[in-house]
Amino acid sequence: MERVLITGGSGFVGSNLAASLLADGAIVTLYDNLSRVGTEHNLAWLQSSYDETQLSYINGDVRDAYLLAEVVRGGNYDTIFHFAAQVAVTTSLADPRSDFEVNAGGTFNLLEAVRCAPRRRTDPPPAVFFTSTNKVYGALEQLAVEQRGSRYAYRDCVGVDESCPLNFHSPYGCSKGAADQYVLDYARIYDLPTVVFRMSCIYGTRQFGNEDQGWLAHFVIATLQNCPITIYGNGKQVRDVLFIDDLVRAFRLARENINITAGQVYNIGGGAANAIAIWTELGPLLHELHGSLPPITYDEWRPGDQPIYVSNSAKAARDFGWQPTIGVREGVSHLYDWAKGFFS
Ligand SMILES: NC(=O)c1ccc[n+]([C@@H]2O[C@H](COP(=O)([O-])OP(=O)(O)OC[C@H]3O[C@@H](n4cnc5c(N)ncnc54)[C@H](O)[C@@H]3O)[C@@H](O)[C@H]2O)c1
Repeated sequence: MERVLITGGSGFVGSNLAASLLADGAIVTLYDNLSRVGTEHNLAWLQSSYDETQLSYINGDVRDAYLLAEVVRGGNYDTIFHFAAQVAVTTSLADPRSDFEVNAGGTFNLLEAVRCAPRRRTDPPPAVFFTSTNKVYGALEQLAVEQRGSRYAYRDCVGVDESCPLNFHSPYGCSKGAADQYVLDYARIYDLPTVVFRMSCIYGTRQFGNEDQGWLAHFVIATLQNCPITIYGNGKQVRDVLFIDDLVRAFRLARENINITAGQVYNIGGGAANAIAIWTELGPLLHELHGSLPPITYDEWRPGDQPIYVSNSAKAARDFGWQPTIGVREGVSHLYDWAKGFFS
């Protein structure tokens, strides 16, 4: 039976992936300090279905190199998904040191734990998956952008692929970008089977989005609770959005094809077919689902906010046969139904 460690395993992405793996019989360990508000509910949800023979939880911080090394050494894992992170650009601006310590330092701690864990020569090292971000590509000023009606669009390309030059912006961009490069280098230098997913906006059930991170879930929850929403900029900013079940499938396919994916980076997102303007197009969809919208105010653009980001995931399609299957309308309806059940 596959043995899996998920750091940040009580978070949005971690708990959804854990549920999928547990349903197929994997033995899963979650390593999380529950610092994100709401993640305690995800942990309780998983623990209500699986006992300690299949699911264990360690209350740990990825900054604790000693504990992390002990967990990795003792766990004999086949696969490690490293999701624990300081996830918000805004928080990284307010406290860049702890952002660096969690994102860059925490990832380094994990890589060292894997590299240094003793194992028999016949045992392969665990596959390590890291969730990076499109923010490592920076403001993308080299791509021509134009306004087309209610949204921004690229003039000459369908989406950003992995050949795009790195250009870290914001402390969050720098700390995730440094981690991204360390993860890839541990494949090159130490021959560890590591894989980087550079993800754009992921959304879905069990996402406790707030104004700082998880904007789509934040808009859905605010709509349900009739809480005011601030739109920074004109709301025509475009993002490609990917429903969580499609991301979980991508991880599992990339794991199955580790002989091809090891040492590689993949841009993973909804792509051009699932790109939506964050308010001028999402607002009407939320109105349709809920029947009303909360009070909306507009404010200045946030520094470094891209007018459009759409990923090109052709490499993932080529290497492990993945592409998104859940459209925006269907995915947002699932998220709305879950949030309605949870918050009301
Ligand atoms: N959701 C997205 O749209 C998106 C996009 C790009 C990249 N990512 C990356 O994907 C990963 C998962 O994101 P998510 O949306 O599930 O976020 P999340 O906040 O729901 O999950 C992160 C988890 O990490 C835990 N955590 C935070 N700091 C920790 C620490 N120091 N030690 C141990 N645990 C800690 C939190 O309690 C939380 O459970 C993150 O690395 C994030 O940067 C997410």
